[in-house]
Amino acid sequence: MEYLTLNNGIRMPQLGLGLRGLNDPDICEQVVLAAFREGYRLLDTAQLFHNERYAGKAIASAAVPREEIFITTKLPPARYDHDPRKHIEASLKRLKCESIDLLLLNYPVGDIKSGYRTLEWAFEQGLARSIGVSNFYLISQLRALEAFANIPPAVNQIECHPFQQHQKLSAYMKEQGIVPEAWMPLARERHIVVENPVIMEIARRHRRTPIQVILRWHIQSGHIVIPGTRNPDHMRSNLHCFDLVLSDEDMRLMNSLDMGHSFMARGSALRRLFQRIRT
Ligand SMILES: NC(=O)c1ccc[n+]([C@@H]2O[C@H](COP(=O)([O-])OP(=O)(O)OC[C@H]3O[C@@H](n4cnc5c(N)ncnc54)[C@H](OP(=O)(O)O)[C@@H]3O)[C@@H](O)[C@H]2O)c1
Repeated sequence: MEYLTLNNGIRMPQLGLGLRGLNDPDICEQVVLAAFREGYRLLDTAQLFHNERYAGKAIASAAVPREEIFITTKLPPARYDHDPRKHIEASLKRLKCESIDLLLLNYPVGDIKSGYRTLEWAFEQGLARSIGVSNFYLISQLRALEAFANIPPAVNQIECHPFQQHQKLSAYMKEQGIVPEAWMPLARERHIVVENPVIMEIARRHRRTPIQVILRWHIQSGHIVIPGTRNPDHMRSNLHCFDLVLSDEDMRLMNSLDMGHSFMARGSALRRLFQRIRT
């Protein structure tokens, strides 16, 4: 496992497991325990995923010491100004933890200032070791946040894959010391991406899978990645992106695939929000 050091000195694993869609208690617990066995140490959940409790059960029963596990969760906008402290404490209780390693605002809507102040409160109380945001796609949104933040965001978790790279945003974030974290890093394994001829050709040359090439491109781009998988073979295979090195030419080819294409579900609340903030 490789780690990135956040702007507060905390080390975060560069690859972890995304828990979206794991809504069955037993399956979620078993998937998290399998991930720990395979060497995963980063879990990405959110209050909106409704599975913090099941992840918490796995964390409590795992053979891995708590201090080796990095847990991210997110506060939804509806809770930014409705007694948000209570909701952070509820997450901690569900996760069976005394502190969250990374606590994010899930979306840039609602009373962002109130929500971010709550994250800062959680940080000061030792309830969150790092804080940040998610789905902030415009540099202007980050600038507005930085203008009032007392604690700079450590991470911005965004939809990011070879077809949607956010190159300007990522360059700005790097300048500001904000680490880009890629959600939907594999474009949900869509054939149009994993069977892209450029990616397949790079994979063929390195004798790797297109998915390992995509994950390696993320790693070499300085992204944190949290692919979702329920399959231990896929978990293991995904970790093998760490023993692959893409050349400068491979990276140039991968970077050239960016077409600003979002795979968020049409008609979903997140897609509508994304369209609204980009217009
Ligand atoms: N901040 C936000 O608003 C937000 C929104 C959405 C998601 N997220 C986070 O991002 C995480 C990842 O996103 P995602 O799950 O939507 O998309 P993703 O990681 O791009 O794709 C997940 C899909 O890829 C497949 N897969 C993974 N590894 C594979 C492999 N080695 N070979 C073949 N298939 C493989 C999985 O199937 P198998 O189970 O069969 O392996 C699953 O269907 C989520 O779990 C969540 O934590 C955050």
